[in-house]
Amino acid sequence: MSLDSESERFREDVLAGLSAEPRSIPCKYLYDASGSALFEQICETPEYYVTRADLALHEAHLDEIASMIGPDAHVIELGSGAGIKTRRLLASLESPRTYTPIEISDAALAQSTRDLESAFPDIEIRPVQADYTQPIADSELLLDPAARRRIVYFPGSTISNFERHQAIDFLARLSGIAGTGGALLIGVDLVKPAERLIAAYDDAGGITAAFNRNLLERVRRELDAQVDLGAFAHEARYNESRERIEMHLVAQHPTRIVIDDHVFEFEQGESIHTENSHKYSVDSFRKLAAEAGLTSEKVWFDPDGLFSMHWLTAEGGGFEV
Ligand code: AVI
Repeated sequence: MSLDSESERFREDVLAGLSAEPRSIPCKYLYDASGSALFEQICETPEYYVTRADLALHEAHLDEIASMIGPDAHVIELGSGAGIKTRRLLASLESPRTYTPIEISDAALAQSTRDLESAFPDIEIRPVQADYTQPIADSELLLDPAARRRIVYFPGSTISNFERHQAIDFLARLSGIAGTGGALLIGVDLVKPAERLIAAYDDAGGITAAFNRNLLERVRRELDAQVDLGAFAHEARYNESRERIEMHLVAQHPTRIVIDDHVFEFEQGESIHTENSHKYSVDSFRKLAAEAGLTSEKVWFDPDGLFSMHWLTAEGGGFEV
């Protein structure tokens, strides 16, 4: 998408979201350059266990995961693969053939491609610049026909940020990419007590609050909106019945946001819903996967039991060994 159409899409999505009841803005817009930098900082906060638990899971089980993947694999990762998990995964595999990071940001993709090419000269790195939440043609993915198995790798529990019905469609699409004999390796954050979750999404240092409020700063800057940034406060709520953390920006007093000739009035306490982070038990994720036609054949956990990773295959697909 060109820059112009990207910013037009942002404008349309913000106008539609602020006109809706309840008000919301899609969470993908949290990740402009400042938002992405703030997200990196969130991962370092003492309260946000997710990143550390995911890494600990990898450390504890990488040998077994690598032996399930087997030799001569084509690994397709959703995200740039700039992180330590990707390096450890690739390093642990037996003669991996091809690695495809799919990433929307050109800069992040170019950097991680350079890094991985020099770290893994024997692996063919085939970067794809695309929004992985949208369908991607096989021709764009350059699937490696000589690979013994395709693995779609999606760590970090980003699947949590999808609505359940979107997660089902998304998993079904990934299953198509993995193809016959392939598998999906999906990181999934586990349900846990509300206090622990709220602390993780409202850290004492205020980094998550800054991450959330940066969205309004982006609206102000990119859409030339009139908005009193100080009027909105970050709030993390646990929605018990939907088993998800919700991030909101809550008006602290009556205020308005003006974008061109659109005026959005807020009463005190009214919120803009900016993100959901669904938490799953092993069973609830298995059920979700089953709705996408996938079977969870194996689940790993980090040593503290906070985080899980599912090995999903298409029902009845099986493996040629
Ligand atoms: C990217 N994603 C998995 C994070 C999460 O935990 O849902 C996003 C995040 N939002 C606030 N803190 C972290």
